[in-house]
Amino acid sequence: MLDFPNSIRYPSIMEKEIVDFLIIGSGVAGLRAAIELAPYGSVLVVTKDRPTESTTEYAQGGIAVALSDEDEIGIHYEDTLRTGDGLCREEAVRILVEEGPERIIELISWGAEFDREGTKLDFTLEAAHTRRRILHAHGDATGREIVRVLLGKVSFLPSVKTYPFTFTIDLIVRDGECHGAYILRGKELISLFAKATILATGGAGQIFSRTTNPLVCTGDGMAVAFRAGAIIEDMEFVQFHPTSLYCPLAPQFLLSEAMRGEGAILRNINKERFMEDYHPMAELAPRDVVSRAIISEMVKVRSDYVYLDLTHLRKEFLKSRFPRIYSTCLQYNIDITKELIPVSPAAHYIMGGVGTDIEGATNIKGLYAAGEVACTGVHGANRLASNSLLEGLVFGARAGRVALRSPISNEQLIASSKEITHNSSLPGLAPRSGAGITHHFSIPDHEEIRRELRKVMWERVGIIRCEKSLRYAKERLAGWSFILDETFLTRRELELKNMLTVAGLTTEAALLRKGSVGAHYRSDYPERGEGWKRHITWRKEGKELLYEVVV
Ligand code: SIN
Repeated sequence: MLDFPNSIRYPSIMEKEIVDFLIIGSGVAGLRAAIELAPYGSVLVVTKDRPTESTTEYAQGGIAVALSDEDEIGIHYEDTLRTGDGLCREEAVRILVEEGPERIIELISWGAEFDREGTKLDFTLEAAHTRRRILHAHGDATGREIVRVLLGKVSFLPSVKTYPFTFTIDLIVRDGECHGAYILRGKELISLFAKATILATGGAGQIFSRTTNPLVCTGDGMAVAFRAGAIIEDMEFVQFHPTSLYCPLAPQFLLSEAMRGEGAILRNINKERFMEDYHPMAELAPRDVVSRAIISEMVKVRSDYVYLDLTHLRKEFLKSRFPRIYSTCLQYNIDITKELIPVSPAAHYIMGGVGTDIEGATNIKGLYAAGEVACTGVHGANRLASNSLLEGLVFGARAGRVALRSPISNEQLIASSKEITHNSSLPGLAPRSGAGITHHFSIPDHEEIRRELRKVMWERVGIIRCEKSLRYAKERLAGWSFILDETFLTRRELELKNMLTVAGLTTEAALLRKGSVGAHYRSDYPERGEGWKRHITWRKEGKELLYEVVV
């Protein structure tokens, strides 16, 4: 983590760098975009942690693709649309399912080793899929295998450079165009100019106190894009995964849906199976249905968790099919082959994000987005399990291709770089006299605010929402809004500012949608409500937060 003493002197002159293409984020979408761009110029991938530290790395279940003998692209398309609950952008879904097989075959040709049954690829089942179509690797380490292959490929591309532990503070916006980003690399403040900037920063699960997402998922890409004037869309749609490990001393570790795909059963704390009472697909019902059913059982029998039961499955099968989950649970004294696993839902994936077209272009010239940070509309109101790694590959490659056509010229970048000479160009840093500025940070209660924000979001803007809970959350968030006017220079504080921005947009959107669609559930409006078939978009103009409802 980047950290500085409480008070530090920054040079008043910013360092400058110019590259052709800047990619922010090193998960599947960012790396795939880098590979696409590599033949055409210099590519810089910046990431705030280690390059392997992304949601992709932790993805267990797998990657959905219509490649099995029993499957068809059209069926994958239908399953995605049905799960998206009427709000998918059909064109984006078509692209995902049609281009998916090609992207996977390419990945295999680059060395990805997906699990096989004999010589044939082995496909598993997850919720709301009508076919076994989920590829997996090393049992439950699919994301890690994909990162291994993509990072390996990138390491052989001389035009691609990576800056790890580099935080993107804000985007450089000149006359409504994106010319790169202000970054913090170690103690260096750099204005980094690029003809095209691709956001691939992943999601924002950390705004909730219960989440399956790694610590890096603080909504940074969505927040910097919003501050730059980008359109942010569908923020009310947050998917909660039904089964994350619930153990006071253990991390909130994901227990893949593939476990239920292989036959795991949910039981309440009285050990009674309950999912059959809630949905004909029982444990494999859509995630929002399973998550709400779990909450309902927890309330009914007054518990903080339910159980996931795999004890009826063969021990050797479980150890080889879920090796990472088996060994992690064992570390916390749970032998999944013999014992019930305590689980509860947790925030998992945000369907909303930076609005893009089907190529990955945003409303700001020179700015593109791909993967979870983006909202192409491919997931609608609820994402079909294991579609997101595929989304990263398909739309990462597309964003790379469209970035090649960025209208920003080298001359414009050079002119911009001449204008930006002082760190006061960074929004929020007031100009000071003298050779440098003294910036005091680590206001003592920031960690407390972060904890409270996550708790408020989980309790009031979580799986079940209502006007009262949302208004309460809005009020609490407003109490911390002074943070939005600050420019910080530590990772924790920059993250907090971004989390507050994303939490605010999620709460506002959830308030505005008076109805229940997909993963957004309002107990005071359990029906879809009138005019539900619309998307809510957000944009910042000066200090104003503007929204628009797009049918
Ligand atoms: C899981 O393995 O359950 C997660 C898969 C996903 O969210 O796509």
